[in-house]
This record gives sequence, C-alpha cells and structure tokens, in this order.
Amino acid sequence: MTTLTVNGQTHTVDAPPDMPLLWVLRDLVGLTGTKFGCGIAQCGACTVHLDGVAVRSCVLPVAAIGERRVTTIEAVGDTPAGRKVQTAWRQLDVVQCGYCQSGQVMSAASLLSSNPNPTDADIDAAMTGNICRCGTYNRIRAAIRQAAKEA
Ligand code: FES
Ligand code: FES
Repeated sequence: MTTLTVNGQTHTVDAPPDMPLLWVLRDLVGLTGTKFGCGIAQCGACTVHLDGVAVRSCVLPVAAIGERRVTTIEAVGDTPAGRKVQTAWRQLDVVQCGYCQSGQVMSAASLLSSNPNPTDADIDAAMTGNICRCGTYNRIRAAIRQAAKEA
C-alpha cells in the first residue's frame, strides 16, 4: 500500500511501487482531469505538481513521490497562480479541443508561482514540453502574459 497526499487529501492506494502516478490518479484515486498522451514524457498532457513544481506523471513511479504534495488540475484553481491562469484562460478563450489543456494550465501555474513576471523566453522555456495538436500556442502565451499582470 502507498499513501500520498493529493489536493490536500490523504489517499492510501494498493499500487505497485513502479505504477506511474498518472494511473494512480486516474484509476485508483478517481481524478481523471490529468490526461494520457504519449506515456514517455514528451507531450505534457499528464502534467501535475509535486510541491508546486510541474512534473510528468506518466513517467513518475508512485514510490518516488514520498512526502511531496500532489496537486492536479482539479485543485490547481485553489492556488493563487492557478486561479490567475484559469481566469486568463477563460477570458482569452484559450481552449480548442481541450485534451492538452490541463497539462498546459499546470505548467503555466507552476511557471507563475516560481516566476511571477516571466519574459517571453521564460514562457517558451517553461511551456515547450507541452504539445497542443490544435495549435493554441499563441493564445496560451497571451493568457500567461495576462495572468502575470494580475500577479
Ligand atoms: S503523457 Fe506524459 S508527457 Fe505525454
Ligand atoms: S486544445 Fe486540442 S490539443 Fe490542445
């Protein structure tokens, strides 16, 4: 059994130690907002936070989490940076099909919590691993700039 803290709640799950956090969240904890895209840390769809830092949950064994707090898209809006990001996302109508967007929001929120006034280069560096097949990149950058102004 593994115990982990997700969105402020403690969960004890019957997961093998090498089970990726993504599947623990989706199949054992029941939080399906975090998406599977590639499974090899190349697309960003599965991004969650560990102690506020964006990580790819598809390649993170649950046994590696330890005491670190997991935050998912279901609760990132309760954090100051996550709230600003989600507000800007709505105002600029960023989302197209939506599949990549929980990962995009998680990466953007992690960026703004560590760097409240990112340059365009900072934004590109933080978001480069999040792929969007619908090509919403320009709106994502604009929304991050807008969210930073609210900081
Ligand atoms: S599903 Fe994890 S990076 Fe693509
Ligand atoms: S909004 Fe469709 S993949 Fe990004």
